[in-house]
Amino acid sequence: MDKLTISQPDDWHLHVRTGSILRTVIAHTARQFGRAIIMPNLKPPVTMVDQALAYRQEILEALPADAAFQPLMTLYLTASTPLDEIKKVADSEFVHAFKLYPAGATTNSDAGVADIEAAFGLFAAMEKYGVPLLIHGEVTDAEHDIFDREKIFIDTKLNKITAQFPALRIVLEHLTTQEAVQFVEAAADNVGATITPQHLLYNRNAILAGGIRPHYYCLPILKREQHRLALLQAATSGNPKFFLGTDSAPHLTSLKENSCGCAGCYSAHAALELYAEAFEQAGKLDKLEGFASFFGADFYGLPRNTATVTLEKSAWQVPDVYGSLDAEITPLRAGEHLPWRLV
Ligand code: NCD
Ligand code: ZN
Repeated sequence: MDKLTISQPDDWHLHVRTGSILRTVIAHTARQFGRAIIMPNLKPPVTMVDQALAYRQEILEALPADAAFQPLMTLYLTASTPLDEIKKVADSEFVHAFKLYPAGATTNSDAGVADIEAAFGLFAAMEKYGVPLLIHGEVTDAEHDIFDREKIFIDTKLNKITAQFPALRIVLEHLTTQEAVQFVEAAADNVGATITPQHLLYNRNAILAGGIRPHYYCLPILKREQHRLALLQAATSGNPKFFLGTDSAPHLTSLKENSCGCAGCYSAHAALELYAEAFEQAGKLDKLEGFASFFGADFYGLPRNTATVTLEKSAWQVPDVYGSLDAEITPLRAGEHLPWRLV
């Protein structure tokens, strides 16, 4: 196959930041996707509906003039989120979910939840009002090996959450392990999951073999090949619980190429192309449309997009950097050729 037309996709997990980074990255996403779930881990975090509405406005103003893209906002859950705010999200047209960051798990997660069980009252309200809880599923205790953090989170935290709140709508974000795939497959239909392009295309060798490659460093960290294969199988299975979420997470090049480099891969410049490459490797290009364009919208109870996009087999070279001097971002696969191109 050298041409593929599918319904316009959406990105169910995206970081766009603010200011000059936002202005650099937002056109890349708007070119590909109809909508995106916007992560709230700004500094300070987006914790209240009013802040989310102001952030939404900033994103809309940064869009190219002809873009029809819609940002779908989320709130950052903290130990002091007021119960009232959950009802406000349920009633809001523009805010769609809460994001749970275990404190210290990732970029800008210091204000996250340290004691997850102390948040159970908030989960009860989300369950009652049907507000989705998006979960960064990693434990943060220093004694755990970084490669085991997702599995231990599932065993010690997530199982308790789903047992206590069987009707809570949960998205386990950016799956990285076979155990996470098995958890989601076995869970009720109100539990879904996003999968990133980097976790479908790479295993942990990408970060460490032949030198330290900071642009492949994201959280949860890339795992062994057996896990990549399990994710690829899940994404290409046609199971509607698994849908597209790039976790495109721009950081300045200087902060990635650093003795303590930031976590996050920037993939919005070529997101759909990267997924197409992974699906083609699995011989499952026919499953891309469900994963990219249908299952996420269905999970969130939003209409499917009616426009279409076309991918063509025609190699192109990814630039070394995007942005201006004050916001230079090194994209995933910088300088390399990608086989698929969005036309
Ligand atoms: C994300 C970021 O930079 O905001 N980083 C990452 O490695 N994925 C945060 C996150 O989603 O964990
Ligand atoms: Zn993320």
